[in-house]
Order: sequence, then C-alpha cells, then structure tokens
Amino acid sequence: MDFNEKLKKYADIINSELEKYVRREECPEKILNDSMEYSLISSAKRLRPILMISSYQLFQDDYEKVFPFAIAMEMIHNFSLIHDDLPALDNDDIRHGKPTNHKKFGEVTAILAGDALLNGAYQVISQDILNTSDDNELKKKIRVFNEITHGTDRMIAGEYVDTEFEGQEISNEYLEYMHNNKTGALIKASVRIGAILADSSDQDLDILTSYAEKIGLAFQIKDDILSEIGDEKILGKPVGNDREKNKVTFVTKYGLDKAKEILEKITAEATLIIDKYGANGEFLKELALYIKNREK
Ligand code: IPE
Ligand code: IPE
Ligand code: MG
Ligand code: MG
Repeated sequence: MDFNEKLKKYADIINSELEKYVRREECPEKILNDSMEYSLISSAKRLRPILMISSYQLFQDDYEKVFPFAIAMEMIHNFSLIHDDLPALDNDDIRHGKPTNHKKFGEVTAILAGDALLNGAYQVISQDILNTSDDNELKKKIRVFNEITHGTDRMIAGEYVDTEFEGQEISNEYLEYMHNNKTGALIKASVRIGAILADSSDQDLDILTSYAEKIGLAFQIKDDILSEIGDEKILGKPVGNDREKNKVTFVTKYGLDKAKEILEKITAEATLIIDKYGANGEFLKELALYIKNREK
C-alpha cells in the first residue's frame, strides 16, 4: 500500500469510529447534537489520530487499542477548532469548505458544542478505563489520560497567547512558544500516547517526543504559510485571515521565503530522527513530509 492509500485507509477507519459517537436521536438538545456532528463528521485530515495509530504501530500491531484515545483526541481537536473560529477568537466564517459552526448554528450552540466535545472526549476515555481490569493496562491508560489533559491545557494556553497578543510585537521565542502550545501540544500528545499504549521504552518515547515536537511546529508553520498563499478552495478555510487580523505568524515574522526555509529544516530534522527505525519508521517519516507539502 502506498503512502496516500494508507493515509486514506486510516482516515476512513477513524471516520467510521467517530460515527459511533454521533447522537442522532430526537431529544430537546437535538440541535446541539447536530452542531457537534457538523464539526466532528467532516473532510478533516484526522492527522492526530493517524499519528497516534502510527506511533503505536512502530511497536505493536493491534492498533484498535488506541481507538478510544484517538477518538477523544479528535473530539478535543474539533472543540478547539469550533472555539478558535468564534468571533471572540479568530472570527472566521469558513472551515472544511462550509460555514463555521457558529455561522451555521449561532454562537451559543457553537460554544456549547465545543464544551460538549471536550467533555465527550473525557467520557470516551473514562468509559474505556472503566472497561479495563488489568492493573498494568489501567495504570497505562491513566497515564495516557494525563497526557491528553496536559496537551489540552497547553493548547488552551497557546490559544490564549495567540488571541491576547494579536496585533502586538512579540519575540521569536514567544512566537515559537505560542505555536508549540496551540498546535504542537496535541500533536505531541498524539504521538506520545501511541507509543505509551504500545509499551515503548523510555528511550523510544524520548526519540518520538523530539520527532513530534518538530512536526508539531512544522505543522503550524505550514498553516501560517497556507494562510498566506494557500488556495482557499483546496484549504477549505480563508486565506489572508492571519494578515487581516494582524496575527504574528512565521510568515509575518520571518517573511515567506525564510518561513519555508525553516519548515524545510525542521522537517529534515524530524525525518532524520525517524531514520533510526529504518523501514518500520517509513510511514512516520512520510507523515513529516506530508505535513510540509500539504495543500490543506
Ligand atoms: C487546523 O488543524 C488547526 C491547526 C492546529 C493549525 P488541521 O489542519 O489538522 O485541521 P483538520 O482537522 O484537518 O481540519
Ligand atoms: C490553530 O490555530 C490552533 C487551534 C485551533 C488550537 P489557527 O487559528 O492558526 O488555525 P486555523 O488556521 O484557524 O485552522
Ligand atoms: Mg487561531
Ligand atoms: Mg484560526
């Protein structure tokens, strides 16, 4: 199977897992549930769950074990996107080629749908923990739960910095801090969770953590570049919006060419780290290149 086929296969698996958590029954909060579904079931890339599966697969094959955590991660990611688009934050109108959640359902519903997705993630995980009897598995899952809450905490901190410092001059260090938190943290948690669930050694976990830190930053640098020169039709979200809001990004800070250069360098570092795993690491290596080359 080539890289793109494998990527699609994993995205399809995640999409069908996500379907299981959509609530479609008639009830007084039906529209709230519709609004959650609207964001959760989409043309998204499912990168974080795919990273989780792939880092698990470096060590073990039975990757269904990561599903509850992969689903939870995607719920948290979508919570972050719904809130990120709100008027109080980025005030964006389009995502996944459709009106953003608040544009479609109104702000009240969008805020609550975000809250409900965050809580939904914790419900999925706690249910999985409840179904676990083996003591070692239990400890591991609680550790992983902590990884998720930590990643989410950092994502929220990054979103705060991004929004609060909009339009202000910030240092290179602050910019990197912002990116590592708002975007890098959930990516890093995804890679680490896959490895922890697969009982990787501490040394492997350290190696994968360095890889994840690189691709997490690379992912947001590419997001900055796409916000400058992407194709709105492919991207499914607005181009030029960062500049419009005077966001500090790698493009505004370093210029387009230098931002691309930094992206190349960090990606090369990430693939070099993964070289250690030889053929087994091929997919993670290709994922780093995919992040650099993606158009959406
Ligand atoms: C968008 O993330 C938000 C950022 C962290 C830059 P993705 O580009 O992974 O979003 P989807 O889920 O594929 O739409
Ligand atoms: C991405 O922020 C980080 C989160 C959503 C947590 P951005 O605001 O840069 O991402 P897009 O471009 O709206 O997807
Ligand atoms: Mg934002
Ligand atoms: Mg945004």
